[in-house]
Amino acid sequence: MTSRARFLAALACQPLERPPLWVMRQAGRYLPEYRALKAKSSFLEMVKTPAVATEVTLQPLRRFPGLDAAILFSDILVIPEALGQPYAFRDTGGIAMSYRLETRAQVDALNPSEAVTEKLAYVGEALALLKKELTTSADPAISHKALLGFGGSPWTLATYMVEGGSSDDFERIKLLFYTDRATFDALLEKLTAALIVYFQMQIRAGADAIQIFDSWGGILSGQDYQAASLRWIRQIVAALPAGFPIILYAKGTATQLTDQAFSGVRAISLDWTHELAITRRNLPDNIAVQGNLDPVLMQTTPEIVARETTRLLESMRGAHGHIFNLGHGITPAAKIECMHALVDTVTTWKN
Ligand code: CP3
Repeated sequence: MTSRARFLAALACQPLERPPLWVMRQAGRYLPEYRALKAKSSFLEMVKTPAVATEVTLQPLRRFPGLDAAILFSDILVIPEALGQPYAFRDTGGIAMSYRLETRAQVDALNPSEAVTEKLAYVGEALALLKKELTTSADPAISHKALLGFGGSPWTLATYMVEGGSSDDFERIKLLFYTDRATFDALLEKLTAALIVYFQMQIRAGADAIQIFDSWGGILSGQDYQAASLRWIRQIVAALPAGFPIILYAKGTATQLTDQAFSGVRAISLDWTHELAITRRNLPDNIAVQGNLDPVLMQTTPEIVARETTRLLESMRGAHGHIFNLGHGITPAAKIECMHALVDTVTTWKN
């Protein structure tokens, strides 16, 4: 069975000998070969150069041939940038947007959502290059792997735009939501329209599935989650081709699981706080789960990673519709030998 077939079968909740495996942020700073390329150009230069983005996307597959999927090397914040709000990285870590989006006039002054097609054409080009590699490469580490596209949720993108970057308290975006719903909705409408155009482009370019990162859904009051986040995700899913698989990365939103399961997405990517087997049982049979090892484990030892990976696999024995992953992105401090332990354990396990 090819990796791509295994990945699509898990998304379709079909029985499998072992779950497919990929790792959020599998290309990145924990890899020496990534750091070597990064020494020569900035992150955004790499993202915007299709040949480089393709190479970085393939780096983790070359090093860990057991991985079943490639995820495009890019960033969620290219959408605000395409709409006219560029960003940079703070020296101290985290994101700094070029300005803080505060008024209705600023929302109205953003580029039209269709601008995404031209401004993010490099994403379509990188995906098309990747699709070709993944389909035709003679290297078994690369051929027949699934290809994932992605983007941020409208809510998560809006937090960066309104806060002016990474935030500790999310006061500004919450104040906008509570005090000026018309401006909030205008911004989220614009983001939703842009993401629909963006994801349609990714699907045309060959993505097998798309992951929507709602990384900050969990800072909302439970009663507001629908209006501030899930409502817009539903609109995106409804606008994409019927049946195309969408994975929703849901962090810190365990109480919203039932509504998420009926939002039209095919899979929910769960953080490490879930007991995966129990969550699996509580979800409809046609919704797949992805996750959910604690990323901190990747900074321990291969023995500990093998033990905890086996524990998670055993807890899911007999369960359908599981894509193995971490509960959030792998960190720069993760150890290569821990990744090997993860990949070896998952790929040699038998259901
Ligand atoms: O998973 C993958 O391998 C695909 C690539 C990917 C990146 N960012 C590459 C990246 C993906 C899927 C993302 C998504 C992303 N970007 C999210 C949602 C996922 C999540 O973690 O919840 C968010 C919130 C962002 C915004 C962003 N970009 C942050 C917060 C940072 C880190 C800033 C810092 O220095 O603390 C980035 C930078 C980034 N995105 C890097 C990578 C590999 C590191 C860039 C570097 O080399 O310095």
